[in-house]
Amino acid sequence: MAAYEFETHEYDVVVVGAGGAGLRATLGMAEQGLRTACVTKVFPTRSHTVAAQGGIAASLGNMGPDSWQWHMYDTVKGSDWLGDTDAMEYLAREAPKAVYELEHYGVPFSRTEEGKIYQRPFGGHTTEFGEGPPVQRTCAAADRTGHAILHTLYGQSVKNNAEFFIEYFAIDLLMSDDGECQGVLCWKLDDGTFHVFNAKMTVLATGGYGRAYFSATSAHTCTGDGGGMVMRAGLPMQDMEFVQFHPTGIYGSGCLITEGARGEGGYLTNAEGERFMERYAPTYKDLAPRDYVSRSMTMEIREGRGVGAEGDHIFLNLNHLPAEALAERLPGISESARIFAGVDVTKEPIPVLPTVHYNMGGIPTNYWGEVLNPTADNPTAVVPGLMAVGEAGCASVHGANRLGSNSLIDLVVFGRASAIRAGAVVDPTTAVPTAPAAQIQKSFDRFDGLRHAKGAIPTADLRLDMQKTMQRDAAVFRTAKTMAEGVDAMTAIAGKMTDLKVTDTTLVWNSDLMETLELTNLMPSALTTIVSAEARKESRGAHAHEDFAERDDENWRVHTVARVDAAGTSVDLSYRPVIADPLTTEDEGGISLQKIAPKARTF
Ligand code: FUM
Repeated sequence: MAAYEFETHEYDVVVVGAGGAGLRATLGMAEQGLRTACVTKVFPTRSHTVAAQGGIAASLGNMGPDSWQWHMYDTVKGSDWLGDTDAMEYLAREAPKAVYELEHYGVPFSRTEEGKIYQRPFGGHTTEFGEGPPVQRTCAAADRTGHAILHTLYGQSVKNNAEFFIEYFAIDLLMSDDGECQGVLCWKLDDGTFHVFNAKMTVLATGGYGRAYFSATSAHTCTGDGGGMVMRAGLPMQDMEFVQFHPTGIYGSGCLITEGARGEGGYLTNAEGERFMERYAPTYKDLAPRDYVSRSMTMEIREGRGVGAEGDHIFLNLNHLPAEALAERLPGISESARIFAGVDVTKEPIPVLPTVHYNMGGIPTNYWGEVLNPTADNPTAVVPGLMAVGEAGCASVHGANRLGSNSLIDLVVFGRASAIRAGAVVDPTTAVPTAPAAQIQKSFDRFDGLRHAKGAIPTADLRLDMQKTMQRDAAVFRTAKTMAEGVDAMTAIAGKMTDLKVTDTTLVWNSDLMETLELTNLMPSALTTIVSAEARKESRGAHAHEDFAERDDENWRVHTVARVDAAGTSVDLSYRPVIADPLTTEDEGGISLQKIAPKARTF
């Protein structure tokens, strides 16, 4: 039994993660007077939300007619009818309110001539329930929208007396014997001390697990830490097979070039100089949703029309746009293109390739952010004391494919929703629960085992095996054969976690050990992704199965629920129904069921 000393902290709420969702949750909790701690492994303004570029979707109608019903319809269609309708309605209805709140908190949005928030077009956002032209719905702060939001929310959280525990790594959830979450055990990276945060509500806002892949726009910190903790607690993940490839990662580095570039008039060309999106999506062309555009680009490359010496990428053209517009609206990506591709965007096209960008799947929640542990009898059973928001969670608003700029709005709408819900269910006058000593000890034993791991495989080597396998076998297009091979390969790779070698056993700034802990979160995320993908015998959104090319609503309009065994090498799958009913009827001002009924998804 490993003996470690620790300090105990007591809070009404502990939020794990300080990206857009974590900070919006933290701020909302603190504003209501709940004693709130935010623990984060990086400084808040270095969280991955800082890299969000193009903007945040809300039907403000500043640039032309728009409505939340149109936004909801686009989100339903974008999700390829796998999103939960109640959550998608909540997102679209609350979005304008959430954005105006951000404005009042001080987010420096770009402005129109009249001083309104500037909005740009983004893929899949349309008018007239998908029958009209593209809409300008994405509110932007140049191409640094995430940066602007993150800095504002951090300042507001500090102002409202939220307490920050910075560079603390969350090791495990602390669950009571009867399944209530009572907090989290953390390791303070800069001095090697340990901290138990007991809380009435724990909110996971830990982001996605893009780093399960070799090439991703995600920061190296995106290691699925919340999902890893949830799976170790015996709870499931949802819809993990749906991984979004952003069409325009810079060829080679994977660095993001915002979809806002196409929103501002950029377009893609192949080796023949052809604007090929006109063939695949005659109406919306380069502004079709991401799954569509990524598949189209991949098909062009496969059919020999890729650009470059090896014909293995595509060009994004911005050089026809006025230099002043590029400098005003797209300064960040102009700089990225120069640094990472050696390209002057006013003169040359940017070489781009679909790159892993976002996890539609995650920890299952309802639209209040409460974590679900679905059973056959109760598919929406709530885990007491535990919430998940942002990319870590799966509400599920994005279903099988997320629309661009629906991520930032997801962060703030559901971060805010979790605070509203906590205000109703967390009683600040009651005692904070004490996490069971046995749970804390179990977590220390796991930590100690990794710290002194004396196997044969360095963490970085096993991580690379996992990343290359996922990149090869769970790609834009998938076949029964590649996914079956991927399941075998990933099962073998996950089995090698017991043979890891950690060389640094110190406790202060030990990146070897921290990356090993992160790998214990990435590995089950990767395994559940490939196993869930192999099992889904249809094509839907980002899951393009070449042997089952059609969507199959009769058999597969269901959420995948994936649980990993204690050894971390075997995945049990079950399914839960999609929530098909909206929150309000047409008579109440909502959207009719007929309007959002599944149909062919063309653009
Ligand atoms: O393209 C982008 O600016 C990314 C936005 C998003 O993922 O929502």
